Amino acid sequence: MSTPAPVSTGAPAAARKKVTTLTFRQKKERGEVITMLTAYDYPTALAMDKAGVDSILVGDSLGMVVLGYENTLPVTMEEMLHHCRAVARGAKTALLVGDMPFMSYQVSVEEAVRNAGRFLQQGGMDAVKLEGGRERADAIRAITGAGIPVMGHIGLTPQSVHQLGGFRAQGKTTAAAKRLVEDALLLEEAGCFSIVLESVPARLAALISKRLSIPTIGIGAGAGCDGQVLVTHDLLGLFERFTPKFVKKYANLHAEMQRAFADYIEDVETRRFPAPEHTVEMDDREWEGLLKELG
Ligand code: KIV
Repeated sequence: MSTPAPVSTGAPAAARKKVTTLTFRQKKERGEVITMLTAYDYPTALAMDKAGVDSILVGDSLGMVVLGYENTLPVTMEEMLHHCRAVARGAKTALLVGDMPFMSYQVSVEEAVRNAGRFLQQGGMDAVKLEGGRERADAIRAITGAGIPVMGHIGLTPQSVHQLGGFRAQGKTTAAAKRLVEDALLLEEAGCFSIVLESVPARLAALISKRLSIPTIGIGAGAGCDGQVLVTHDLLGLFERFTPKFVKKYANLHAEMQRAFADYIEDVETRRFPAPEHTVEMDDREWEGLLKELG
């Protein structure tokens, strides 16, 4: 029998210290890249934590890749908190970031602080993420003022899909790029510990990363960011509707799931499953006793 290939697990989970916002800052200072992935459930978070990922984002991409919505706009606080709790039960080492859903931080600064607090109190998260640039500075100041770490998110901000005219790359003109640089600096000044840069030109993301002292986490923003994040369902090939150009697929689990389900259906229909090894047996004497009882 061949020995299975060893699985790369980074540093053993037991040996790793809890990743904090300070770890993020130190990694940037040391020039070490930060790894982040999205998760929405317990087993995925457990596997990621064991693999040694630095940070797990419970993204509102939940709405599209798990709940089947057209975009992220319908996702509610309750849905986010439900999935945050599952992830928090699975991951003990990674820095856990909860994504604030549409309309949970835009209406007022007070609501933003209250909802951000729920991610820590009721969701088991270590930090929150919210989308937007200068228009979010007040909310970010208030949330960080309450002791809650905030990750910013600029560039393609999916909650503004209708305003942006679709899921399209941002910052491609001089004016748009300058605005993104200004926004990044403002978010740093407002207190963010890190900023996601989504779908922006690689050289713009690299320039922003150099100008900030907080780490940038790129998605579709090239290799010049301080860290990288991907939506796990894209990476695993679990989300079939579309795959953004910037995704590298490490598996094709949708096809693998479909094959397993088809095999199960065939086994049941041909009565190959359940086999004796999947079946609970009863002692012969007990069985005879039952038949006697029943007459
Ligand atoms: O919701 C999400 O998964 C995200 C990532 C794409 C950064 O915001």
